[in-house]
Amino acid sequence: MRLKSFSFTLFSIGAFIVPFFMVKNSIEIKKIAKEIDRTKEQLTIHLGEKLFFEKRLSINNTVSCATCHVPKFAFTDRKKVSEGVYGRKTERNSPSLLNSYKLKTVMYDAHLPTLEMQVIVPIQEHVEMDMKMIDLIKKIKQIEPYNSLALKAFDREFDAYVLTRSIAAYERTLLSENSRFDQYYSGKNKTALTRNEKAGWKIFSEKLYCTKCHPAPDFTTYLPENNGLYKNFKSDKGRFRIHLDSTQIGFFKIPSLRNSAITYPYMHDGSMQTLNDVIDHYSRGGAGHTLQSKNIQPFNLSKEEKYQLIVFLKSLTDLTYLKKTSIHTK
Ligand code: HEC
Ligand code: HEC
Repeated sequence: MRLKSFSFTLFSIGAFIVPFFMVKNSIEIKKIAKEIDRTKEQLTIHLGEKLFFEKRLSINNTVSCATCHVPKFAFTDRKKVSEGVYGRKTERNSPSLLNSYKLKTVMYDAHLPTLEMQVIVPIQEHVEMDMKMIDLIKKIKQIEPYNSLALKAFDREFDAYVLTRSIAAYERTLLSENSRFDQYYSGKNKTALTRNEKAGWKIFSEKLYCTKCHPAPDFTTYLPENNGLYKNFKSDKGRFRIHLDSTQIGFFKIPSLRNSAITYPYMHDGSMQTLNDVIDHYSRGGAGHTLQSKNIQPFNLSKEEKYQLIVFLKSLTDLTYLKKTSIHTK
């Protein structure tokens, strides 16, 4: 009996000690694993950044993602519509990629669910980079350090998985969320905006209806809408082209208004050059397309109010990301 209870005691102490060490070990292991994950994440972003600026992703080595998404222009290109290889024109104006980690859907037609899926579109598009995926993988794999970075970051050879995951990971690091408006809106600095900018915010959010589609802090609901750009949409009918659904004619994903002081020209086709033009469009109550949102109604602003609205929009500029990004982002 005594022996039995002694071994029982030993057994219970052991049962206590073993899990204690196991727990301690597993905390250590988790910590190391986390560090490895972090290093891999950094390597992934580094690889993604290199690829983003890599012209050899295009058929004639002249066009990279950054050709149309230029860092200093808030990752747009200042062109009415973008130009790809051999000067071929795309149909649309290049959107900003800042804060794209927040996108619920990707592209003006709001039809792609992830940044990863988007990456292969411009690469294969005839008017953008015009590369076949199979050829691209073969080509880039041979260029160092792409394959060795792929092995380090993903434990696999360079392939479409590595390409799409790394570029998307880089895109998710592109942040612009600390404009003067943000400092004011978050309550951190009530004096970050001038009197006119504050008055403009009031016009934007209270007097007019802009926040129905462009609410703070993201200045978009991320939904596709018809803002009455045209009475008749001609070759580009927006989201309609995805399912040929006639209730979607003229629907485009609502863009964020962040950095709009520098992302001109505006709209999916770059048809408006200035913020003044944009406000004139809305003040006329849109062009009157049959599917135009009911929220868009004509309005009158005094010269001063129009000025205030514009300076408010300009207070949404935050280019501090330029300081953080590395050598590539010139
Ligand atoms: C030839 C110019 C051009 C090149 C090259 C290009 N893009 Fe774009 N990009 C555009 C245009 C134009 C659009 C808008 C297309 C649309 O919505 O139909 C766009 C849209 C996007 C979007 C969607 C943003 C949003 O708000 O939904 C992302 C993300 C993007 N591009 C990333 C990339 C990446 C990554 C590359 C490189 C692999 C790249 N682009 C190469 C012109 C270009
Ligand atoms: C019914 C929703 C809706 C309302 C309300 C609305 N917008 Fe828009 N806005 C959009 C859509 C959709 C686009 C993109 C259209 C396109 O690309 O063709 C857009 C584009 C813009 C752009 C251009 C952004 C860019 O980078 O191209 C600006 C600036 C803008 N709106 C400002 C305003 C202002 C100011 C108001 C209030 C007077 C307003 N919007 C009201 C839906 C709306």
